[in-house]
Amino acid sequence: MVIPFGAAVWLARLGLQQSALMENPYPIYQVWQAERPVWQIEEDQWLLFRYDDVRRVLSEQSFVKGEPWTENPPAEYPDLPELSPSMLMSNPPNHTRLRGLVTQAFQPRHLKRLEPFIVQLAGDLTARLEADGGGNLVQQLAFPLPALVIAELLGVPRADHAQFREWSQHIARLLDPSQTPEARKKAADARWQLLDYFHRLISEKRRQPGDDLLTELVKTESAGDRLSPGELLSMALLLLVAGHETTTNLLSMGSLTLMERPDTPLPDGDWHRAVEELLRYTSPVQLDARMTSEPVTFGEHTIPSGAWITVVIGAANRDPAIFDEPGRLDLARHPNPHMAFGRGIHFCLGASLARMEAALAFPILWRHRWALAGSPLWNENIVLRGLTALPATIA
Ligand code: HEM
Repeated sequence: MVIPFGAAVWLARLGLQQSALMENPYPIYQVWQAERPVWQIEEDQWLLFRYDDVRRVLSEQSFVKGEPWTENPPAEYPDLPELSPSMLMSNPPNHTRLRGLVTQAFQPRHLKRLEPFIVQLAGDLTARLEADGGGNLVQQLAFPLPALVIAELLGVPRADHAQFREWSQHIARLLDPSQTPEARKKAADARWQLLDYFHRLISEKRRQPGDDLLTELVKTESAGDRLSPGELLSMALLLLVAGHETTTNLLSMGSLTLMERPDTPLPDGDWHRAVEELLRYTSPVQLDARMTSEPVTFGEHTIPSGAWITVVIGAANRDPAIFDEPGRLDLARHPNPHMAFGRGIHFCLGASLARMEAALAFPILWRHRWALAGSPLWNENIVLRGLTALPATIA
């Protein structure tokens, strides 16, 4: 999720990002949550840590997204339309319109048809890991699974899945600030190649409709001219960007959390509550941001209109005012009002899909216990916290 996070830049500058803050940000969050829950870090930059404050910022309409922007394709892609702002960066009424066009497709009853594909894929990937006695759980399962589920959802032909996975791999690096300029260039190129591919696929779906989300969106476009070609394209890209890395990080950080607790009893069949707890515990989206559209008060602090507020979801999900023993993993925790999927009008559109994917994949992967077979590698991305390597062996 690309959002202007002034505070993320500030945290990175503090030099905490590389080591302590990436490997375990929670002790630091705990101190800040208790001692400076409303923290002005620059004239127009604020950080909030408490659950109630985070919920308020994400829920109330006076906290908005910044100015949306459009993007012109490079000269090599003369046929591509200008990319329109996605729903993630839009405010009402445009946000309401864009989200309304895809909401149906993300209802659990529509997602049901993806279930056999997810089960088959999770089974194949797990079987390969088992046959080798272990491997890198990120590269061999947590990364490819969500990428290919989104490919299937959108209607990318199976023959193109491997290419789609490769582009996704490069594009994921755009969200990681620690990448070299060469890697960033490669990632940017891959992003335009993928957009070009989507553009051609959309024309194909116009000629030959399928039973998939891109076809649905094409129909919406032709039905009432409500979704422009540039909007269609940025919607397809958003679904990949918002839905891939986040789910990868849930599967990999969730698995690491379980490996670190070999004595934790695993659920017997139904993993839904366990998935909620792993979402709370790992918070794959650590930070979110909004701008104030009017002066707002938090305790003794008044934040003026036009200031940026970064909310620390990772800290809110461990707030002792809401969660008993927040640092303890309790796979049966209930109720569990975590905010891993955000709140309010931008609440994660793909939450049902991510929950379904995780509740199907975890029991398949964890039919054997896994143990760490080396040091996990953190991605150094302060917004979408996650792992790039998780060496594992059958325990
Ligand atoms: C564990 C996995 C996931 C997590 C933790 C997650 C988290 C989030 C969060 C926190 C937001 C709110 C952003 C904001 O308020 O600015 C969000 C929005 C969004 N997510 Fe997810 N997400 C996940 C998976 C997915 C999947 C699988 C998809 C779709 C394929 C998806 C699509 C979206 C979209 C389209 C939005 C924007 C919604 C809007 O602006 O109205 N996400 N997600």
